[in-house]
Amino acid sequence: MTGRSPITSILGLAAFAAGCAQSRDLPMTTLAPKSDLAQWITRLYLEVSLWDSLIFLIVIIAFILAVFFFSTRVGEARPPSSVASDLGLEIAWTIGPALVLLMISIPTVRTIFRSQPRRPPEGSLIVKVIGHQWWWEFQYPDSGIKTANELHLPTGRQIRLDLESPDVIHSFWVPQLGGKRDVVPGQINELTLEATVPGTYLGQCAEFCGVSHANMRFRVMVDPPETFAQWRKAQENAPTAADSITDVHAANGARIFADSPCTTCHRVDGVSKGYLGPDLSHFGGRTTLAAGIVPNTPENVARWVTNPEAMKPGVQMPKLGLSGPQLGDLVAYLESLK
Ligand code: CUA
Repeated sequence: MTGRSPITSILGLAAFAAGCAQSRDLPMTTLAPKSDLAQWITRLYLEVSLWDSLIFLIVIIAFILAVFFFSTRVGEARPPSSVASDLGLEIAWTIGPALVLLMISIPTVRTIFRSQPRRPPEGSLIVKVIGHQWWWEFQYPDSGIKTANELHLPTGRQIRLDLESPDVIHSFWVPQLGGKRDVVPGQINELTLEATVPGTYLGQCAEFCGVSHANMRFRVMVDPPETFAQWRKAQENAPTAADSITDVHAANGARIFADSPCTTCHRVDGVSKGYLGPDLSHFGGRTTLAAGIVPNTPENVARWVTNPEAMKPGVQMPKLGLSGPQLGDLVAYLESLK
């Protein structure tokens, strides 16, 4: 393919459009691919669009020509002669569309095969992704790290995501990293990709899964390998033990947490073993709260703990009935879990 072929020009135009989409802050655009998988899908979309545009152009030109050449003019009584059959024409309009379908099906089938999960090469990172009603759990089996709603991935490394669900069907979708893949109870679906550009990409459950389906969001933080290694190291460290916390409020909050029903559902490394809700061992290090619906600030954590249902309808977390200084101390403890 030469640098000036129509496909290259169209791809260039699309890349420009994608750049505009980025700068205008459209985080859910599918035209700004940031992984090999997303690039293949975008390329297919553009190739098919190119063939579609060509057909559109031919049909419109034929239509305009027909209007000019075959219409009856004012004062002209004789209608244009009709043609009963024309073997040449019939062959042409059978072969023409067949060729078009062939041109579209070749890249489509190629992309379908390419985007299928591959056997991960040596050194791949495997992450278990669990879609819950209504939050995302991410587990890294090689290091034992468990986190929620913020998936950290390195660039330059094959990633295999093993998708599973304990409740209903969800769909894992990060538009800039590739297509949707269903998360189905009772089976493991796989998604393989290599993230190519560092950044933070928005994800969203893309299969209706109950009252808070729209609130089942997440983020993917793609970092260069060194930054990812730092994050991973920090996650492997256990949080500061309650009796070593220096901040008075956070230390008091640690005692409140340890004696509260929070421990039934939430794990904090070295403190509690709950597993029904998100692992909170490094909660304070996350940028968002409640499956990515609000920023992780002390005010929002206080609002969340006070009345989770008001922020995420249908949520399983009950109201704790905490308020005043007790609530403030619990929030200070949670935010200290970096
Ligand atoms: Cu999970 Cu929609």
